Amino acid sequence: MTEKFLWGGATAANQCEGGYDKGGRGLSVMDFVPGGKIRLKLLHESGVDLSRIDEKYNYPNRVGNMHYTHYEEDIKLMAEAGFSVYRMSISWSRIYPTGFDEIPNQEGINFYHKIFKLLKKNNIEPLVTICHFDLPIEIARTIDGWYNKQTIDLYVKYATTLFDEYSQYVKYWIPFNEMNVGAFGALMPIGVDSNRFDNSLEVTYQCIINQLVANAKIIEIGRKYADNNFGTMIAAHASYAFDCNPQNQLANVISERMFRFFCGDTQVFGKIPNYAANYFKLNNIEINISASEQKNIAENTVDFLAFSYYSSSTIDEVTEREKSSGNMFVSSKNPHLVESEWGWTLDPIGFRIILNELNDRYRIPLFVAENGLGAFDQIVDGEIEDDYRISYIKEHLRALKQAIEIDGVNVFGYTLWGWIDLVSAGSGQFDKRYGIVYVDYNDNGEGTFKRIKKKSFYWYQQVISGQEKIN
Ligand code: BG6
Repeated sequence: MTEKFLWGGATAANQCEGGYDKGGRGLSVMDFVPGGKIRLKLLHESGVDLSRIDEKYNYPNRVGNMHYTHYEEDIKLMAEAGFSVYRMSISWSRIYPTGFDEIPNQEGINFYHKIFKLLKKNNIEPLVTICHFDLPIEIARTIDGWYNKQTIDLYVKYATTLFDEYSQYVKYWIPFNEMNVGAFGALMPIGVDSNRFDNSLEVTYQCIINQLVANAKIIEIGRKYADNNFGTMIAAHASYAFDCNPQNQLANVISERMFRFFCGDTQVFGKIPNYAANYFKLNNIEINISASEQKNIAENTVDFLAFSYYSSSTIDEVTEREKSSGNMFVSSKNPHLVESEWGWTLDPIGFRIILNELNDRYRIPLFVAENGLGAFDQIVDGEIEDDYRISYIKEHLRALKQAIEIDGVNVFGYTLWGWIDLVSAGSGQFDKRYGIVYVDYNDNGEGTFKRIKKKSFYWYQQVISGQEKIN
């Protein structure tokens, strides 16, 4: 795929761009998802009101970190850090404001032309996510997002516009961010709250199936353009059975299938796996997928597998144990691991394990599309000494190096999540910071959006240039 290992950072349009009402952009689902602790509760339990905004909440994704107006400065910082790749996403409603429009919004198209030109000038390869938890609100409001097959056609039109406009700059595409997260049935990945329906599991999986169909369709179209490479992208985590009790081991195997492997298995091997077909049958889930859609999936498999890795989880079906959270998963607390301030287990060995598992299972190039530490940062005398972040990244890079050099895992790049502070997807907080660049903004909506390089910026810059060795 590429001779050179790609080093860089990752963001998503809905979490960093802001400018929700600028440049002809239409509103998107994330513009209606409140920030703060209430976010997960609303997403998973009581529902998000997509019809209006509520004065008692704030809506941080509308503001992001104002990359929309700071993109030149941000790309300069990427270049200074030595990035050779930038994983970014495009805002669908900036290109097609309602999703149903006949023609795209020229101002939106121009915005990304400017970004890609600047990246090119700085020798930074764009790796583009076409849909990162981002759907024009009208599609969610009027046709229930990904539950409706019409959304496939709207997405194909949108993606085709991106190929027409940007294939001259982009050769790595990720059609969907973390497709497997759709299994939670939550609004962000599938654009519909499946809990509203009696047969919520059926709705959830129909949405994922529709995304798998859309994914194959745009791969077929995209291959007609220049040298395009397509990747699936899954939320990965190492998953352990709590102990050697066979019941826990089996529970671990089973739980991993429909969550971690279903999307990747379908997209890499070109067929809905038998365990999924059985799962649908046993749970009275009737999936609507035609023979020609299945053929299309078989003929348009992905070229690489991208994934996010933050933490691991532990399963104990036999004994009720204290729980810990993670990137969307709640699991039994692992007594061997410490946790971040948000209760996510810190587990670099788990990173090496997952790299091996994915490599052995799929045998296609891997790309680490997200990894990083969300933490509170303090500015002292204008400086941010984030040694905790440096140590998290260092330990994960050591695991990556061992996976490549000792285990022979085939990985072609690594992008640090939220390389510049942005809005957290899960909590909607700005103060949950991942960046090696600090953005002066906070959860109270105060700040100037000034960018400040953290200690980790200089450290990561040295890693990329090879001056800092990871041993
Ligand atoms: C991934 C998402 O699941 O995790 C990102 O692709 C997200 O959008 C990242 O930001 C970190 O999660 P959080 O909830 O800390 O922002």
